[in-house]
Amino acid sequence: LDNGLALTPPMGWLSWLRFGCTIDCDAKPKECISENLIKRTADLMVSEGYRDAGYQYITIDDCWLEKTRDPEGRLVADRRRFPNGMKALSDYVHSKGLQFGMYEDYGTKTCEGYPGIKGNELFDADSLASWGIDYLKLDGCFADVHGMGVGYPAFGQLLNATGRPILYACSWPMFQEVNGLHPNYSAVAESCNIWRNWVDIRNSWASVLSVMKWIGNHQDKLASFAGPGHWNDPDMLVVGNSGLTVDQAQVQMAVWAILAAPLMMSVDLAEIQPEFKQILLNRAVIAVNQDKLGKQGLRVWRSKITSRHPHQEIWHRELTEGAHALAFVNGLTHAVTVTYTHEEMKLPPLDYDIQDLYNLGTGINQSLKPNETLTLRINPTGVKFYKFKYSPQK
Ligand code: GLA
Repeated sequence: LDNGLALTPPMGWLSWLRFGCTIDCDAKPKECISENLIKRTADLMVSEGYRDAGYQYITIDDCWLEKTRDPEGRLVADRRRFPNGMKALSDYVHSKGLQFGMYEDYGTKTCEGYPGIKGNELFDADSLASWGIDYLKLDGCFADVHGMGVGYPAFGQLLNATGRPILYACSWPMFQEVNGLHPNYSAVAESCNIWRNWVDIRNSWASVLSVMKWIGNHQDKLASFAGPGHWNDPDMLVVGNSGLTVDQAQVQMAVWAILAAPLMMSVDLAEIQPEFKQILLNRAVIAVNQDKLGKQGLRVWRSKITSRHPHQEIWHRELTEGAHALAFVNGLTHAVTVTYTHEEMKLPPLDYDIQDLYNLGTGINQSLKPNETLTLRINPTGVKFYKFKYSPQK
């Protein structure tokens, strides 16, 4: 979508994966979807350095609404959990130098059963804009999936007509894909800044692997639609939650960087352990994700598939200045030593300086000549994430 936004993949925080639809603030005061959670997260985004690393958006997912509209038909935020209303919360987020995102649904109800926008589109676009949102995740539950190719762009027009620049995150392709339809991705890219392609990611390694597998298997039809202003969205980062080890978290962050995917964390920033925080704040990895060439990378090589998942994969992204980022993933539960040729890595046969992005140390870690192979050791269910820079022969 050409609205001046998301010129690189958006980065931020989304409540869903970690906090879901927790609405009982008496039982779970620290976890319920509430203005306290959003304010606390906004504070930590700043004090812990996430904002300065590029994480901009803080977005409330489902379960922020009252179950019914007000007598005039307007959407109302839950009065107990958001006692000061959404405008005050959005002002707070903005005062921290962050951007404010919200969630609604294209259909009659949100996925958790709160009022959707169907039938009230004009009204709701105005309410959302009047609260000062910068990002809207528009889900697609309780809706006619066939009509999404018309309805989503139409709502985007209404958002645009409010005069407020709002990043538009669509779920239209996901709902069409899971229903066996063929989303018109060029129309999607014209109408949305980011769009979910496939089912929800969950707090597990198996889920991360299955999303990677789906994206890899469908990359030929998806990758070309990514670029400045419009990106495929394989869903949130699980990094920092109980479901992934440090190595597995490094895999997700590396592959999401290769994919030019939105980097939306969903973790309790008050409780995240330092080794996971370090992954989310890794500037070299973020720089790959944000690379200005804006080209989505590809899964370029897989070892023979002897079980449900291949044992090793190579993911490759072309970067500016003729550089390349490569993620070497090991799916096995034991460490492996592997050797690859330029051909397997889809690297032009040139001389390269190589940096290990999770272990920058002194900068250049090794070099590679056209006739050489690259040997690496990869941790169990882990990754080596390297940047290759062309190095003209001296
Ligand atoms: C859908 C979306 C999720 C989340 C939930 C909220 O499942 O795909 O990302 O927004 O709805 O109910």
